[in-house]
Amino acid sequence: MAESYITPRQTHDEFFPYSGCKEDQLRFLLRYAVLAPSHYNAQPWKFRLHSDGIEIIKNASRAALTVDPQLRELTISCGAAVRMIEVAARYFALEPQVIFPSDNQSDFLARIELIDRHEPSDQDALLFHAIKERQTNRGLFTDAIIPNEVTKSCLASARELGVELGFTHNKRLKMAFASLTAFAVRHQLSLPWYRLEFASWMRSSISLKPDGMTGFGFFASNLPSPLARTTMKWLNRGKQIGIFNKNKVITASPILAVISTDADSQESWINTGRLLSDLLLKLTTVGLSASFMNQAIQEPKLRKQVAKLFSCEAKPQLVLRIGVAEKVQWTPRMPVDDCII
Ligand SMILES: Cc1cc2nc3c(=O)[nH]c(=O)nc-3n(C[C@H](O)[C@H](O)[C@H](O)COP(=O)(O)O)c2cc1C
Repeated sequence: MAESYITPRQTHDEFFPYSGCKEDQLRFLLRYAVLAPSHYNAQPWKFRLHSDGIEIIKNASRAALTVDPQLRELTISCGAAVRMIEVAARYFALEPQVIFPSDNQSDFLARIELIDRHEPSDQDALLFHAIKERQTNRGLFTDAIIPNEVTKSCLASARELGVELGFTHNKRLKMAFASLTAFAVRHQLSLPWYRLEFASWMRSSISLKPDGMTGFGFFASNLPSPLARTTMKWLNRGKQIGIFNKNKVITASPILAVISTDADSQESWINTGRLLSDLLLKLTTVGLSASFMNQAIQEPKLRKQVAKLFSCEAKPQLVLRIGVAEKVQWTPRMPVDDCII
């Protein structure tokens, strides 16, 4: 029977070409790579297939240069896709190895080689099945506890990747972080070029575009798109949205997770992305949702204050809210073939 699927989320896992050539297997793995989270759902990755590996290449034409001039979040997104390939490979009994280029300047970010056979464990299967289930959820979260074994497993992954990971439910920290976030949001939304860039990635729920962020109630109000997009472009609603986000952090974010690294290098950003996917998949397996609160990190001056607040010597890369929430609409994806060069 031939497989038919419309989006990568509808992939039939049982069609994995176990007896096909390595290149066909690698091509199949890319369907899971593209389900990774990415900044603005820009899907800023390209893949080059070889007979024994996949190269991940950054697609700078999909960068959000106003808010991410160093392509830091873009590279983290590519790292998130790398981890999805690793997880899928293990499920299909292949052992992946991630190799970094010696030259930090090029668009080529990493290469994944399948080095060996692997005996898939129950945990491999759990993580794999979470790939299609995971979603960013910007809703209001009710109280939540991360099971001990999940926390331990995420901390072990962080150590392996050379990345710092911390969790907090401390109310005082959350309030201080919420104030920094509100300040950052107010500043960003006061800039017309920031609002234009943001609006360019907003999509209506019935949009047929394969990228961008869908959903009407992205912020405080349920304005139907394209009204929401027009409002974003022309009105500075920074004060209201700042207060909305502040309250969301204080009252509807039971747990915050902070990911940081010693350096701001391509390799550390890729490893941040790998840890991000690891954490998000593990949270998905225990029914927890997550979303991002990165605005304070995106502002260089506030980023130092975020580091001080969470007492990390390292450079904060991402802050996540974690909790329990109803499922939301899926975001779209580009066809895998459009991401292969
Ligand atoms: C590096 C990175 C930064 C992100 N920053 C934000 C953010 O600041 N605010 C937000 O609401 N979502 C943020 N996201 C989430 C994306 O918008 C989301 O992954 C994308 O829309 C695809 O949706 P999905 O995660 O449900 O697949 C970020 C994702 C990544 C990987």
